[in-house]
Amino acid sequence: MSMKFKLPRHVSSDYLTRLISREIKRQELAFPKASLKTLTEIKEISNAIEKMGLPKYLVCKKLPSKLGFGIFLHPQAKPILRGSVIAPYSGILSLEPENDPEDSDYAFAPMGEMLLHKEEQALFDPKRKFHSRRHYALKLDAAKNGNFTRFINHSDEPNVRIEYMRIPKNSLGLAVAPLEVIYFAKKTIHPGEQLLVSYEGDENSYWGAMGIKPYPLFPKTFVLQGKSKIEFRR
Ligand SMILES: C[S@@+](CC[C@H](N)C(=O)[O-])C[C@H]1O[C@@H](n2cnc3c(N)ncnc32)[C@H](O)[C@@H]1O
Repeated sequence: MSMKFKLPRHVSSDYLTRLISREIKRQELAFPKASLKTLTEIKEISNAIEKMGLPKYLVCKKLPSKLGFGIFLHPQAKPILRGSVIAPYSGILSLEPENDPEDSDYAFAPMGEMLLHKEEQALFDPKRKFHSRRHYALKLDAAKNGNFTRFINHSDEPNVRIEYMRIPKNSLGLAVAPLEVIYFAKKTIHPGEQLLVSYEGDENSYWGAMGIKPYPLFPKTFVLQGKSKIEFRR
């Protein structure tokens, strides 16, 4: 499958980025600062995503039944070590009223309880009358634009974890961000295994909202094998 999703990192406006920084301060949230090792790995994977979409050591493959596509470590690749960056989860950043989310199978809400000034509500929520205490949530949506992380499926026992981080000033040419959603290897990922993450935070917000139970997927439920033609192991 050719990878048309080639967005290394999320898209925001300076206006929204400033608003996010302000809200992080007001809510006294402290997202950990990405280390130099993490920044270096983000830089490397961003370059690969920009160039070819999917780095060579990964495979995007259609799964049986209604599961759609999934991301696998190539059967001939080296293991991915625990703690390595998989990639930033990229997409379009926007704001939406907290209790009125528009459903997207590809969206995160990395931050809630946001308060907006009058002119900000007019911009992000033009249909509603201004209400100073209405809460908004930050939405990171990869429905229309994103990268291969949007194809990573859900597991209750994942080998990938999600971290909300701050991208500090750096000399690598990476744009600063008050909040970035980054996928890391939670444990060693072995060749052929599927990359899987848990979509659920504290609440049962993803599958609960969809009203379905996820298929019990584990890193070795479907394993890729083969040299020339890559197939699932039987
Ligand atoms: C972020 S996408 C993952 C990529 C998706 N398979 C695709 O081809 O676009 C999330 C969607 O994938 C499917 N999915 C992911 N994990 C699943 C699981 N464990 N059981 C059932 N469906 C799953 C669901 O349709 C879900 O809404």
